[in-house]
Amino acid sequence: MRLHVADHPLITHKLTVLRDERTSSPVFRQLAEELVTLLAYEATRAVRTETVEIRTPVTTTTGLRISEPRPLVVPILRAGLGMLEGMVKLIPTAEVGFLGMVRNEETLEPSTYAERLPDDLSDRQCFVLDPMLATGGSLGAAIEFLFKRGAQDVTAICLLAAPEGVAAIEKQVAGRDVTLVLGALDERLNERGYIVPGLGDAGDRLYGTV
Ligand code: URA
Repeated sequence: MRLHVADHPLITHKLTVLRDERTSSPVFRQLAEELVTLLAYEATRAVRTETVEIRTPVTTTTGLRISEPRPLVVPILRAGLGMLEGMVKLIPTAEVGFLGMVRNEETLEPSTYAERLPDDLSDRQCFVLDPMLATGGSLGAAIEFLFKRGAQDVTAICLLAAPEGVAAIEKQVAGRDVTLVLGALDERLNERGYIVPGLGDAGDRLYGTV
């Protein structure tokens, strides 16, 4: 697994405002979108391209364009939805799929309650959006779901992560082509499963408490 933790003052600045409990939902949504666009720039560094020949008004030249099949962006419901606009702003030609994960209260295992994805992902570059990598349960299950559909190239983008979650994903995906792009790697998880210092419940902060 490749791990990339952002190191840019603009990202840290926006994350600091995002963490602040006084930040309202509308500002939080706007900042989350901007942050994802900045992280997407890093996450798409290895996006597949092909060489094309074009004519400029002056001459002919070769360039690169994103190749087919198009990258697939997969927000994990519900909080991952708050990251979608920021991602497709950078790659508007991407296709979008959805995965809803929920924790079974008896087994404590995450399971899928909704999915809208192509049946065969074997030649797709997949970009999973999940703002908070806490225990790694739902992101790990989502990545596993994509692998079962044949995916071989998965990049997950998270605004914040706890070391425990990163370790869990690393253990789970061992040897497979997975990249983790993080806005920041925080200190730890607390006893209630929140990232510390974190930003609280990302879904609640994005959408208000429902
Ligand atoms: N999910 C969140 O929204 N926040 C956390 O701190 C951990 C998981």
